[in-house]
Amino acid sequence: MEYSVKSGSPEKQRAACVVVGIFERRKPSAAAAALDASGTVASIMRRGDMDGKLGTTLLLHKPAGVLCDRVLLVGLGRERDFDEAAYRKAHAAAAKALRATGAVDAVSYLSHQPVKGRDWRWNVQQAVLSFEDAFYRLDALRGEQARKELPQPKLARVAIDVPRRSDLPEGERGLSEALAIVEGVNLAKTLGNLPGNVCTPTYLAEQAQALARRHKTIAVKVLEQADMEKLGMGALLSVARGSRQPPKLILLEYLAGAKEEKPIALVGKGLTFDAGGISLKPADKMDEMKFDMCGGAAVLGAFAAAAALKLPLNLVGAIPASENLPDGQANKPGDIVKSMAGITIEVLNTDAEGRLILCDALTYVEKNYQPTVCIDMATLTGACVVALGSHASGLFTNTPALGRALLAAGEQIGDRAWELPLWPEYEPQIKSEFADIANIATVGGREAGAIIGATFLHKFTKKMKWAHLDIAGTAWHGKKATGRPVPLLVQYLLNHAAKRES
Ligand code: BES
Ligand code: MN
Ligand code: ZN
Repeated sequence: MEYSVKSGSPEKQRAACVVVGIFERRKPSAAAAALDASGTVASIMRRGDMDGKLGTTLLLHKPAGVLCDRVLLVGLGRERDFDEAAYRKAHAAAAKALRATGAVDAVSYLSHQPVKGRDWRWNVQQAVLSFEDAFYRLDALRGEQARKELPQPKLARVAIDVPRRSDLPEGERGLSEALAIVEGVNLAKTLGNLPGNVCTPTYLAEQAQALARRHKTIAVKVLEQADMEKLGMGALLSVARGSRQPPKLILLEYLAGAKEEKPIALVGKGLTFDAGGISLKPADKMDEMKFDMCGGAAVLGAFAAAAALKLPLNLVGAIPASENLPDGQANKPGDIVKSMAGITIEVLNTDAEGRLILCDALTYVEKNYQPTVCIDMATLTGACVVALGSHASGLFTNTPALGRALLAAGEQIGDRAWELPLWPEYEPQIKSEFADIANIATVGGREAGAIIGATFLHKFTKKMKWAHLDIAGTAWHGKKATGRPVPLLVQYLLNHAAKRES
């Protein structure tokens, strides 16, 4: 889709479709009123065909007195309840309705509606993010015939309107931010959606290298099994031993900040399929464990967006990539492995493998880069889904200011996180009888599973300002990858860069 920002009167648009909002109780927005010299919209509302309920739509053909071919009415809900969530929901509904029409171009006035505490940059950014989220689809895996028969949406150009010409620069900034974020989100979605037999550790590494070819400012290096052996990454390697796919530790660098400045590190779980290993998962929904690499995909997405935005920052990334399968060589419950940090780990449940591959990646990042902050994201625990559902990622941190910055970024862009505690009281719960720590709780059973996972990782990150995002509930929804937490990460990086500039 091609996007632009403009400022013009709705009644003068010659576009194939003009999109305007209607508030509940049949109250037209200013743009809807401006289009309604003939009273068509008013009479439609009187007849009860559009009452303004949030997320409803009605397409009109060539109402009298306007220059455009179609008008799409979009319900905005009650005016005094109009907030960020309503703004996004109205845009998602508009996108879905627009795609079903034959219109090739559209001008949207939904962006005229002010949202408390936000500016035109935000309005345009969110309009484009919501539209693109609704337009995303992955057809590459269908057969050629089926692909030919798929309905081809006609819509090619969307203009987002802002009230005044003087708002255009702000809107343009929101647009370019959104387009960069969309690049990252769509990359993360596609990698997440690809099945385990396509998206293997090797494939992920190749995609990282392809990303570096598209963005010359990104450098990629891939550590192979032999490299990991030399580094003593016994935890990561123990998981990979159960798989015929060779593991990869994908490393990324984007160094566009000051030379002497230490980087921000992003670490993402790249488990390309999690069958649980010898502690095999039940068959129900096991297919969804192809999404277990979404943390790694988010790292790639965030790098793509950072490079597209030319952010003046230093970033490093690390994605430990492996499968977790049962096999004669696989970890067995009770096995004890030695991590790169020298900490020995009793693998009491081979399905708690994410922490095993992440701990070595975190140690590598801490030793090699001494980052200013380190943020990891992982589909780490089913317990986090139980705790927070699909609306918020779980946030854990040893640095309150970092936590606040991440929470605010998520709130701002609509990719929220919610903090759970990382209190030292949980630490004794991962004591092991024979090793330094166990990979699951040995006290308390299934209580606080998400916190136990974070507590394990914290053993390896004590020397860094560190935050962990458990994205098990947010990285996909209903069998489709969401691209989260790419928006949160990029907004955090944008805010970080802006704060340093001022
Ligand atoms: N990748 C899973 C976590 C997961 C499960 C995410 C379901 C989303 C939906 C992870 O590797 C895992 O299996 N975790 C175990 C940990 C347990 C054995 C302590 C879990 O959550 O059951
Ligand atoms: Mn698992
Ligand atoms: Zn897993």
